[in-house]
Amino acid sequence: MTTFPNLFRPFKIGSLTIKNRMVMSPMETHLCDKEGFVTEEIIAYYKERALGGVGYITIENTTVEPAGRVNDGMLCIHDDKFIPGLKKLTDSIHSAGGKLVLQLSHAGREALPYFTGLEPVAPSPIPSPLTKHVPKELTIDQIESIVRKFAEGAERAVKAGFDGVEIHMAHGYLVNQFFSPESNTRIDMYGGDTVRRSRFAREIVESIRRQVPGDYPIICRISADEYTETGLKLEESKEIARILEQAGASAIHVSACNYASAFYNIPCYYLEEGCFVHLAEGIKPVVQIPVLTVGRIVNPAMAENILKENKADLIVLGRVLIADPHFPNKVKEGRIEDIRTCLSCNRCIESISDKKLVCTVNPSIGKEGASYGEKTTQPKRILIVGGGPAGLSAAHLLSARGHTVTLWEKESQLGGSLRYASMAPGKEPVRKFIDYLIHQVKKANISILLEKEATEASVKQFAADVVILAHGAHNVPVEIDGIKGNGVLHVKKAFATVHSLGKNIAIVGGGPEGCELADFLASQGKKVTLIEMRRVLGLELVAHPRYHVCERLKKLGAHLHVNTKVTEVGHDYIIIRRRREADQKLDGFDNIVTPILHQPNPALATPLQALAPEVYTIGDALGGRTALEAITEGTEIGMKI
Ligand SMILES: Cc1cc2nc3c(=O)[nH]c(=O)nc-3n(C[C@H](O)[C@H](O)[C@H](O)COP(=O)(O)OP(=O)(O)OC[C@H]3O[C@@H](n4cnc5c(N)ncnc54)[C@H](O)[C@@H]3O)c2cc1C
Ligand SMILES: Cc1cc2nc3c(=O)[nH]c(=O)nc-3n(C[C@H](O)[C@H](O)[C@H](O)COP(=O)(O)O)c2cc1C
Ligand code: SF4
Repeated sequence: MTTFPNLFRPFKIGSLTIKNRMVMSPMETHLCDKEGFVTEEIIAYYKERALGGVGYITIENTTVEPAGRVNDGMLCIHDDKFIPGLKKLTDSIHSAGGKLVLQLSHAGREALPYFTGLEPVAPSPIPSPLTKHVPKELTIDQIESIVRKFAEGAERAVKAGFDGVEIHMAHGYLVNQFFSPESNTRIDMYGGDTVRRSRFAREIVESIRRQVPGDYPIICRISADEYTETGLKLEESKEIARILEQAGASAIHVSACNYASAFYNIPCYYLEEGCFVHLAEGIKPVVQIPVLTVGRIVNPAMAENILKENKADLIVLGRVLIADPHFPNKVKEGRIEDIRTCLSCNRCIESISDKKLVCTVNPSIGKEGASYGEKTTQPKRILIVGGGPAGLSAAHLLSARGHTVTLWEKESQLGGSLRYASMAPGKEPVRKFIDYLIHQVKKANISILLEKEATEASVKQFAADVVILAHGAHNVPVEIDGIKGNGVLHVKKAFATVHSLGKNIAIVGGGPEGCELADFLASQGKKVTLIEMRRVLGLELVAHPRYHVCERLKKLGAHLHVNTKVTEVGHDYIIIRRRREADQKLDGFDNIVTPILHQPNPALATPLQALAPEVYTIGDALGGRTALEAITEGTEIGMKI
């Protein structure tokens, strides 16, 4: 008996029967080929998600005409030649017991001419908030042609075996551009009041309805609030939802935002869980058809409550299914602690700007067919040095494959540098992810020794067949005049000793760690001064969290200096220099925090090379990077030995 009865209650949208209330959100993967054809990689990716138990999968953003293609990572359905590949995809998902709906899309002014070689089009010649490119205003003939393209796309989707279609009417794409008073200033029948701005969408739904079987699902995805000053708001979206229902839509999928508010569209860890649920809740009472809700719904208990309180009929899961395709089955089986937590870090969306999808915590994206669990025929005695994400990822995989694994961690806790990462505001998912990794190693038959520091002598004495060095980076303080002997702290130490810090703190270095520490301290009421010599703060952060952390720092009143170099550090002061300005002394600080460089750590690797038959170095021990590389390298070594 599941503790989430509503989440596992079957449902129907027209002819589509859904075994539970979880739907996979459409998410571009760039796993298709450059021409937009289905590949074996993309089939394997979606099949894994079907096997993971989700009610139905919405296959990503698929363009109905070449000019509507955002870039060359987007699937296509604008010609019959795409049907055989799409049919292979639907066959594969159906054979895995899954159901799938195809998202039909046209990006309008957000299509990138750099990729398409075609002029972007839109209801009005108003520039894209992203590219600033001014699109060509569509003529009535062209509008009618695009309406037909959507209908033809839907017809092909039926032929290819999809169980339904979703029309992308959200996120600032073409249909959304017509809805929005911000991007549609037409004075003909496609512009003006809500009814006229909805005409394009209505005609698309009506023409698809004429082409597909009577109860074939046509799901409309809308941005019920564009999160901009003059864009769509919930009240107007209620009217739009009613118009779509009357036109023949089978369900409304309620999302939010456009390209001008893209920092909210895929809510990163600074935004609340379930941050768009209120929008679905607002649409629900005004239509008879089912309503879907999306947006950082990561917690099954929250999903269950949304259904119980009748705020929506279906729960749409995006990134949680990138991070862990088996989320639905694990929830059903009550294995919550086995769910590989999505960090809401948005590395995934950033990755697809120019390459295939990657995920910080799931290194198997695009390699779904590969086996991770094959038993070894040559069990070995393996010593892993370091209990950070690299060491932990390797440990449980090697143990599951039949090796005898011992892990030494010099601190009293596992988690490595990610423990500091998890302390910053908003980064609770990192804590949950560490708990997931710890749960995996604890379940496995691994001997874990805490407060055990590996040295040349102790490793030699242990006499392992294989030694895996996952002991993290060599932390080297940056050279600044006065840094020695003045009691300055480095970032990790500042996180670790926050309770002993004073009220007034200077942080030298506004990279990711400096920004997060500043946020952490300022949130606790401390006066923070942050100095960065580059033009922007948090340069290496993913764009979405970078935007939010900078906004937070401003709101918290942190004193932010960019383009500013610290030339000297004293006991309670720093000297700063801005280009062409005289040096300035800032003083009265209780603590000064300076950055550390995360360099390769050969201290153990070099002497150990000869002490074991096989020695490998993984993760930050090869040089400071991020958890993605640490987890990937831990997983790869876990499969290799
Ligand atoms: C403040 C901060 C915030 C960060 N935020 C993010 C983020 O948001 N996203 C992200 O992807 N990355 C982030 N990172 C980077 C990320 O934490 C690292 O890239 C990742 O933890 C590296 O993993 P690792 O296992 O290789 O090394 P580590 O995590 O450093 O783990 C190494 C482990 O080895 C142990 N060890 C060292 N020497 C020995 C020895 N001789 N014997 C036994 N044990 C030893 C250490 O105590 C440590 O536990 C952040 C880092 C910091 C410092
Ligand atoms: C990598 C990635 C690709 C996306 N591609 C699409 C897409 O093709 N079509 C679409 O409507 N939304 C797309 N989105 C938005 C998601 O469908 C979803 O609305 C968003 O991720 C919020 O849901 P979540 O918090 O459950 O991840 C994408 C999101 C991500 C992370
Ligand atoms: S990259 Fe980050 S946000 Fe995206 S799915 Fe993976 S963990 Fe989640």
